[in-house]
Amino acid sequence: MERLSSRLLAWYRTHKRTPPWRGHASRSAYAVWVSEIMLQQTRVETVIPYFEKWMRLFPGIEALANASEQQVLNAWEGLGYYSRARNLHKAARIVAEQYDGELPRDLDQLRRLPGIGRYTLGAIASIAFGMDVSTLDGNIKRVYARLFDVSEPVDSPEGERILWRLADEHLPKGRAGDYNQALMDLGATVCVPKNPRCLVCPVMELCQARRKGVQDQRPVKSPKKDVPHYVHAAGVIVRRIGKPPHKEVLLAQRPSQGLLGGMWEFPNGRVSGNPARELVKALKRGYNLRLRVIRTQRASSAPAAPLSAIGVVQHGYSHFSVTTHVFRCELLSLPKETNLKWVPLKDLDAYPMGKIDRQIAKMITK
Ligand code: ADE
Repeated sequence: MERLSSRLLAWYRTHKRTPPWRGHASRSAYAVWVSEIMLQQTRVETVIPYFEKWMRLFPGIEALANASEQQVLNAWEGLGYYSRARNLHKAARIVAEQYDGELPRDLDQLRRLPGIGRYTLGAIASIAFGMDVSTLDGNIKRVYARLFDVSEPVDSPEGERILWRLADEHLPKGRAGDYNQALMDLGATVCVPKNPRCLVCPVMELCQARRKGVQDQRPVKSPKKDVPHYVHAAGVIVRRIGKPPHKEVLLAQRPSQGLLGGMWEFPNGRVSGNPARELVKALKRGYNLRLRVIRTQRASSAPAAPLSAIGVVQHGYSHFSVTTHVFRCELLSLPKETNLKWVPLKDLDAYPMGKIDRQIAKMITK
């Protein structure tokens, strides 16, 4: 359907969004790469300030390769899915060492870099290098599912197979970069999830779902699994030290792999009964810390907080949600070998943390 690509390209010329990675100054392959990794599961408006800060901190691949993991995670803090940042960092080091600091223009070499899957590969190859490669993100899947009335769930293997085939079939040779971005922008601004704006859509007449009046029922998604909810308790352990005396707090660094890998947190553990009592056991088990919960006078502002919690923080991750009860604790003994570190309160900003722990840090420094 040549009409599809020519209409989309014509629409894109006048309606495209102009985020900074499409600007002249930052149109490098590196800028495209960084933006595409940030844009995975994340909206353009959220990404823009992170992208701009990132390009100031790490203006090129060498600068990123030379940065520490702590600096990289710190710059990513708040964007979530932190393995994206760790992989980008690892990949920059590989590119600096093996490819002279230039992102390779070869699909197989690109694909082997950490963090570059089929979607990102298509986006980078088409946008940065003008190669004829298709791509498929959430927005593009929705657009194709409506245009071709795909009734298979778009997140099922069969649905994905159908959508990749459609994406390959309709890719206009020589224009893949603009075409892919036209689909992304159409999905983000016109073919939106709820109440699609069909009347201003440049390809309304070609849309099979619209013709049948089922655009609101596309895309079909597999039923969502329930996300579990966990209750945690965390300890805020403070000491006064030095001349002039200043306050330090005990933080733990998470293992480098897995959720929030390499980031810092207040020592904490999962609890099921009385959070204050179980905190003591959990921190002995998890960190070999011996401590006592300090019963504060101040009643918590959160009604659900058990007596003496200094606060309750909540956060929803993609696969579960957490409520954390926070207690001040007195340290009785610290193990010798640990992933724990005393951090001056004034330096907490330099330690990358997830949402829960950043809220605790704000709570104790305000
Ligand atoms: N979402 C992911 N990549 C994008 C891009 N290059 N332009 C607009 N939205 C996007």
